[in-house]
Amino acid sequence: MKAITIAIDGFSAAGKSTLARQLARRLNYAYVDSGAMYRAVTLFALRRGLLDNRLDEADLVASLTQVDLKCKKTDSGGEAILLNGEDVTAEIRGVAVSDHVSKVAEIPEVRSHLIKMQRAMGRAKAVVMDGRDIGTVVFPDAELKLFVTASPETRARRRCDELVAKGQQVTLAQVLQGIKKRDERDSTRAHSPLAKAADAIEIDNSHLSKAAQLQEAVRLALRRIQPQKGGKSKSKP
Ligand code: DC
Repeated sequence: MKAITIAIDGFSAAGKSTLARQLARRLNYAYVDSGAMYRAVTLFALRRGLLDNRLDEADLVASLTQVDLKCKKTDSGGEAILLNGEDVTAEIRGVAVSDHVSKVAEIPEVRSHLIKMQRAMGRAKAVVMDGRDIGTVVFPDAELKLFVTASPETRARRRCDELVAKGQQVTLAQVLQGIKKRDERDSTRAHSPLAKAADAIEIDNSHLSKAAQLQEAVRLALRRIQPQKGGKSKSKP
């Protein structure tokens, strides 16, 4: 069987990570959450005091060589991210990191540093990687590129339900406003803005169950991994 690279991009809270993780599991590929890498660098900067008043870009760029990131499988079948050997999987999801990560992700040197690591991960094994620039910048030659979308209202409702389930007090209107702001910021920034690659296949999951979405992604992947077996329909990509 041919090993391929699968790039999954899309707006925040579109369900990319769930899809990418499930697809990797189904294909027995490695899953890399590139957003977690930007979050881990943000945590590093917070701990070093580089984000106390304003972001100290020069210091952060100078200390990038001290940032060692590793993704590893946990015993329970999930993924952990290690920052200089420490498991920071839970901490990078906290409010402090979430509030600052988009600023850190805008620094060109941070991006080029992480992109180098992401390409090395892609060379080492067959991967499903999700993010914002995977199909456009990190792996422009990926055999399969998916662009996952859902309406801002759908994404806000899902995120709001998640936050409320975690005990946070938020309203749908607040979450929707945050999502629209992040969409704007992610798609208009100067470096590697979120964009659909010309050859990416769009999956709008506003009205699609997770199972149906996964089934479609598996179908598309198998067509590329085993072209002779999946080649029945001529009309579908
Ligand atoms: O997907 P996420 O919310 O964990 O991403 C965290 C931040 O990192 C978000 O501001 C977008 C940014 N990001 C990026 O710029 N490029 C990527 N490939 C992945 C994430």
